[in-house]
Amino acid sequence: MAVVDTVELTAKVKDMYRQVAEEPHRTYHFELGRPLADRLGYPADVLDRIPVEAIESFAGVGYFFDLAGLGRDERVIDLGSGSGMDAFFAAAQVGPGGRVVGVDFTVEQLNKARRLAAAGGLDQVEFREGRIEDLPAADESFDCAISNGVINLSAEKKRVFAEATRVLRPGGRLAIADIVSEHQLTDPIVADADLWASCIGGAAQQDAYRQAIESAGLRVEAIRQNPYEFISERARNASGTYGVKSISLLAVKPGRRPRLTSSSNLSITSRRGTPPPPRVAAAVCRVLLHAWRPRWSRSSPGPLAQAAPVWEPKPRRPHSRACP
Ligand SMILES: C[S@@+](CC[C@H](N)C(=O)[O-])C[C@H]1O[C@@H](n2cnc3c(N)ncnc32)[C@H](O)[C@@H]1O
Repeated sequence: MAVVDTVELTAKVKDMYRQVAEEPHRTYHFELGRPLADRLGYPADVLDRIPVEAIESFAGVGYFFDLAGLGRDERVIDLGSGSGMDAFFAAAQVGPGGRVVGVDFTVEQLNKARRLAAAGGLDQVEFREGRIEDLPAADESFDCAISNGVINLSAEKKRVFAEATRVLRPGGRLAIADIVSEHQLTDPIVADADLWASCIGGAAQQDAYRQAIESAGLRVEAIRQNPYEFISERARNASGTYGVKSISLLAVKPGRRPRLTSSSNLSITSRRGTPPPPRVAAAVCRVLLHAWRPRWSRSSPGPLAQAAPVWEPKPRRPHSRACP
C-alpha cells in the first residue's frame, strides 16, 4: 500500500496555509471565505460578530456546530484552527465563561488568529502551536473537540482520533467536518503530496474513517454530507471517480451522560440557520446517517436522541496556564 512522504506533505501543507493566512484573496484551487461559510450553512448573525479577516481565510469544508451543541461555559479545542474562524464561532457560543483552544502547526495562521483574538478582546480564546497528532493539552480537559477540513491532511488519522479522545472528558463530543471518499483511492493518488495538500489525496475511505474513530473509543452518533464543492478540474475528477466528498460527523466519548439544564444553550441550528427543535435535529441526523451508509446501524440512540434540550456544562476544573 502506498504511503505519502510525510516530510514533504507537512512542508506543502504549511506552505499552502501560510498563503491562505497571508493572501486570502488570491485564487486557490479551493473555495475560501464568507461565501463558502454562507453556503455551508453558518448562521449569518454569528458570522457578523466574528473578525472579518478570520472569515476571509476560512478554508473549512462543512458546518457542524448544530451537531456540537455547544453550551455556555464549555471548553472547546479546535484541531487545525487556521486563522480562527471556528474558534471565534465557538467562543460566541460558550461565552466569556467558556474556553476555546485552537491548535495549528502553521505559524502564519497562528499569528493571524492570535492578533485577531487580541484585537477583539477575546480573552477566552487561545491559540497554541502544535500538531493534531500530539495535542498540546491535558487529558480529559475539554467538553468538545471540533475540526474543519484538517484531519484528511494527516497521514496518522488513528493517532489524531486517539488524541481527540484523550483530551475529551467522558461524555465529551467530537464534532467535525472533513473530506472522505466512498472508494479507496489508488496508490498514485495516495502517494501524491500535492493532492493531499489539496484535500483529496488524504481522503480516507468512509468505512475506514468511521472505524478509526470508533477504534479510538468514540461512538459515532451522526453523519451527513455537506454541500462542499471542489473547484479544480483534477479535484472534481477525483471527486467524481472516487466519491470524494465532505461530511459532518458527531461522535461521543462514552462515560458520564451529559445532564440537562434549562440554563444552558444547546444552539441546535440547521444548515440554513433556523433553529429546529432538538428532537427534530436528532431525527434528521439519524435519517442522514442511515441514508448515507445503512449498514452503519447504531446500538444506542445517543445523547442528541435522549430528549436533551440542552447540554449541561461540566463544572470547570482548576487548570494550569498551559492546559485548561
Ligand atoms: C484546510 S485548513 C482549515 C483551517 C480551519 N479549520 C478553517 O476551517 O479555516 C487546514 C489547517 O490545518 C492545519 N494543519 C494541517 N495539518 C495539521 C497538523 N498535522 N497539525 C496541526 N495543524 C495542521 C493547517 O496549518 C491549516 O491551518
